[in-house]
Amino acid sequence: MATHTATRIETRQIELKSRPSGVPTEDNFRLGVGFIEPLVEGEFLVQNEWMSVDPYMRGRMKDTDSYVAPFQIDKPLDGGCIGKVIDSRSSDFVYGDTILGSLGWRDKWKSSGNGVTKIDSKLVPLQTYLGVLGMTGMTAWAGLTRIAKLKKGCTVFVSAASGAVGSIVCQIAKAMDCRVIGSAGSKEKIEWLKRMAHVDEVLNYKDADDLSKELGRLAPNGIDVYFDNVGGEHLEAALDHMKVHGVIVSCGMISTYNETEPSAAPRNLFKIIGKRIRLEGMLVSDHLKDREAFLQDMSGWIASGQIVWEESITQGLENAPSAFIGLFKGKNTGKALVRIESEPFERR
Ligand SMILES: NC(=O)c1ccc[n+]([C@@H]2O[C@H](COP(=O)([O-])OP(=O)(O)OC[C@H]3O[C@@H](n4cnc5c(N)ncnc54)[C@H](OP(=O)(O)O)[C@@H]3O)[C@@H](O)[C@H]2O)c1
Repeated sequence: MATHTATRIETRQIELKSRPSGVPTEDNFRLGVGFIEPLVEGEFLVQNEWMSVDPYMRGRMKDTDSYVAPFQIDKPLDGGCIGKVIDSRSSDFVYGDTILGSLGWRDKWKSSGNGVTKIDSKLVPLQTYLGVLGMTGMTAWAGLTRIAKLKKGCTVFVSAASGAVGSIVCQIAKAMDCRVIGSAGSKEKIEWLKRMAHVDEVLNYKDADDLSKELGRLAPNGIDVYFDNVGGEHLEAALDHMKVHGVIVSCGMISTYNETEPSAAPRNLFKIIGKRIRLEGMLVSDHLKDREAFLQDMSGWIASGQIVWEESITQGLENAPSAFIGLFKGKNTGKALVRIESEPFERR
């Protein structure tokens, strides 16, 4: 029979020290210590092994109304994570189970099972469920199949094309026999997109004197679907070259997340009228009911080698702020992840 501790359990956690203005700095975060109350009947304790850093978290650092509640000053951040059950008073979640949860940015957390998913860790590396088989993979899939309703033979433009969402968007579109144009911010990323993701045309937006002109050169017959991860000038350039009745999947606008003044671009939004463009915002959370269909499609593409993925791994919870800030500096290729090395925990 297992015995359980009656004392509170310590957890290291990253807390929000102050709200960033502009690009976040390490000074906006601190490594603190939190306490977890002893487990009661039906609860279990998880030791995190992986956590995700995602651009949307920047929005939660602002004290504004949004689709997710803002982070609170002096409180730990949260977000996607994967860990192992290390103590349990639940019959459904037992010692050794692997759990996908939403209490990242810390070593340990407890749960009664609401909103968590048990995952099979034998088939693919655990962290895959934070990337290609997780939130970012599903965003790519839902954006193309549910919002764009992508058809074979389309020309698809993808911004932040080598990132967690973008790299999968490019490859799903290729798997669906589309012509893909990607935009990314470094020579290495461009190389990866060509060699590994088999993207047809790639532009380095940092080198382009005139982004719209460069996009027009690569898409002389126009764009059917623009998968927008960036907003701003990328959106403006895409609007210039969308076909009549084209679709823009508005997934993210990372170029605006740290702006302290309203964005100048796009200055040509009126083009959605003449071209009868459908511009539709999306949230992956609206598509969770389709998770089984997503996993089936994605597993098939992975098994057939049509989808590969990259991970940028940062070691140590204490380095999570730096991994997060790196998203806005283009430091990651593929999914940005943090590997959490916890103190060994003795089973009681
Ligand atoms: N709607 C949803 O449900 C949903 C879900 C997940 C993600 N998203 C959005 O999807 C987008 C991509 O997210 P992700 O998790 O896949 O991140 P990611 O693309 O893996 O990482 C961010 C990348 O964005 C690029 N970037 C950063 N600042 C930029 C700027 N000012 N201009 C152009 N590119 C910039 C960088 O690549 P470069 O080196 O190429 O600049 C960076 O590596 C984000 O906008 C995010 O908010 C939306």
